[in-house]
Amino acid sequence: MTTMETFNLLQPYKIAEETFVIPWALEAPPVGHFPMNSMVIRGSEPVIVDTGAPAVRSQWLEAAWSVVDPLDVRWIFLTHDDRDHAGNLLAVLAQCPNATLLTTWFSIGRMAEEWETPINRCRFMTDGDTIDAGDRTLVAKRPPLYDNPTTRALFDSKTDVLWAVDTFAMNVPAPVPETAALSPDEFRDGQLFGGRLVSPWVALTDARKFGSVVTDFQHLNAEVVAGCHTPVLRGPQIPEAYDHLRRLPDMPPWTEFTQADLDQWMAVAESSVPPEQPRPSGT
Ligand SMILES: [Fe+2]
Ligand SMILES: [Fe+2]
Repeated sequence: MTTMETFNLLQPYKIAEETFVIPWALEAPPVGHFPMNSMVIRGSEPVIVDTGAPAVRSQWLEAAWSVVDPLDVRWIFLTHDDRDHAGNLLAVLAQCPNATLLTTWFSIGRMAEEWETPINRCRFMTDGDTIDAGDRTLVAKRPPLYDNPTTRALFDSKTDVLWAVDTFAMNVPAPVPETAALSPDEFRDGQLFGGRLVSPWVALTDARKFGSVVTDFQHLNAEVVAGCHTPVLRGPQIPEAYDHLRRLPDMPPWTEFTQADLDQWMAVAESSVPPEQPRPSGT
């Protein structure tokens, strides 16, 4: 474990009492990096919130077990079945034999194309459901933006920490633990880009209807907002982020990179490859 002063990927850091983010990030040229985080709540009944990406499975597991003993884990909250969230689910289930998986019927079905989730270890948790996790009550809530129909956010009413899943996704110039480290422009542009990137359908929504969903979510009154693809938000950046969300239905969709962009990147990459050395004579 580490503090924010020594932020490193795959080294958990504390964001609230007994609450830790496991940070990871993917380089995403030419727009910087995307955070790829998960969370652990180390209460009287510890909760793993999403299970990280398969690309760093062993490091992710090591990071998680540096926060909590896997045998103590009581709950695994799976926000949805995308690979960046469910990628290590079977390993986590295997190493946490005392944990119940909080998920949905549709998530289990969607994962069945790759593995059989042990339904005897599952508990369905749909929009608005709560779970008594010993010293705290956790609420599952569909967030305003998502890239998978099964998505549920998680709110911890003890710490007022909200795990917003893919809502508030953003690119960052370099991985940082908190959005406070970003410039106002980086924060605004990242929020407006990330939201349209993960949920291009937001352009199809009625701004007033979408705004009421945003307001309902905002009424959870989170003091700390963490998410898979964003550094942690606090203070005035939380209402700012909600204001950015409300703007998305009226913004033009993000224009995807095209084959011309790819051609240009490849040309740059090829021109930066050192020329082949002439072979020594006689070989
Ligand atoms: Fe997702
Ligand atoms: Fe995601």
